[in-house]
Amino acid sequence: MNEVIASPAFFIGRGAEAGNLISFGSGQPDLPPPPAAYNVLASYRGFKYGRVQGEETLRQAIAKEYPNATPEQIVVTNGASEAIDLVLRAISVPGGKVALPRPYYYSYPHNVELAGMTPVYYDLVDGKIDFDAFEKVVRGCRAVMINSPSNPTGTVQEVATLKKVEKLCGDLGIYILSDEVYKDLIYVRENYLLTGKRVVTINSFSKTYAMCGFRLGYFHTFDEKLVEDVVEMKSHTSMNTSIGSQAMGLAAMKERDTYVPAHLPIWEERRDLMYKGMCELDLDLWKPEGAFYVFPKFRDATRAMHDLYYNYDVITYDGTWFGAPKRLRFSYALDVAKIEEGLKRVGKFLENEYKTYPA
Ligand SMILES: Cc1ncc(COP(=O)(O)O)c(C=O)c1O
Repeated sequence: MNEVIASPAFFIGRGAEAGNLISFGSGQPDLPPPPAAYNVLASYRGFKYGRVQGEETLRQAIAKEYPNATPEQIVVTNGASEAIDLVLRAISVPGGKVALPRPYYYSYPHNVELAGMTPVYYDLVDGKIDFDAFEKVVRGCRAVMINSPSNPTGTVQEVATLKKVEKLCGDLGIYILSDEVYKDLIYVRENYLLTGKRVVTINSFSKTYAMCGFRLGYFHTFDEKLVEDVVEMKSHTSMNTSIGSQAMGLAAMKERDTYVPAHLPIWEERRDLMYKGMCELDLDLWKPEGAFYVFPKFRDATRAMHDLYYNYDVITYDGTWFGAPKRLRFSYALDVAKIEEGLKRVGKFLENEYKTYPA
């Protein structure tokens, strides 16, 4: 009897090392980080506690990427994950609601609930925000989460819509948590940075610099009271973010202008291969505009994920985890040969087991 796969925790950190396995699972870049990040290691000697808010030098470098920002408005965190968690806890109010996109990144509902608030959802239409529906859900919320480019849909929101979101939330005094961890992986336009007094921009070194395991992220906000509250909370939870990771992150940032543009065409090639391959398999999906996921329809995603894993050695993520039980998420953060092999296996699954699934 095969073990039931109940959550992403089953797959996180597994995959590449296991012989015949093709992992379309975890959303972590397979490409190496900038060489400067490694070069720090040989001479690295920092093992003491660091500043809870983050090392000054790193915050100075990050602040330069945000117009009118100062290092005091930035908090360096253990990945974007900790930034989301701490910010939600810091702004939590009794009975507070937080509007989330659906499909959503699988942690969001848990983060909101762990912060003592209640998730409510604005449903994306073909991966895009329907502003009228959004407006109805958002009124009365404490905060709203925006995630463009999106995990799991791979879609990028229209700039005009994002401006309307900024204006509405600004007028209503609602916090916008803008999760922009895929901001450097957009195939259709430049990133649009949401701004405003109550905007919290959440970011990460995990995707931009392929440093997931080093757990380095941060947020920026002009709301300095929120920064204070988060720093106070962080000094009683994780304390400082790993200072070794911060030293590597700072070194990586110095290579940003060569590293990021050199990698985008690699992602684009994979995106094209994956999208074309899935279309040839007659799967119904959106063409990704950013990030590195495709999210095709499957009649029973939970069953398909189990069949693909146990019968074809292919890891995929159940759409149910993202609020979309009729879709499977495939990450294309793997090389072209593996994508081709993975697509072949998916083709075999479609010809065999999937044909027997009830319509
Ligand atoms: C949309 C989104 N937000 C946040 C995260 C967490 O990123 P980090 O590794 O920086 O904690 C991820 C990771 O996959 C993600 O896809």
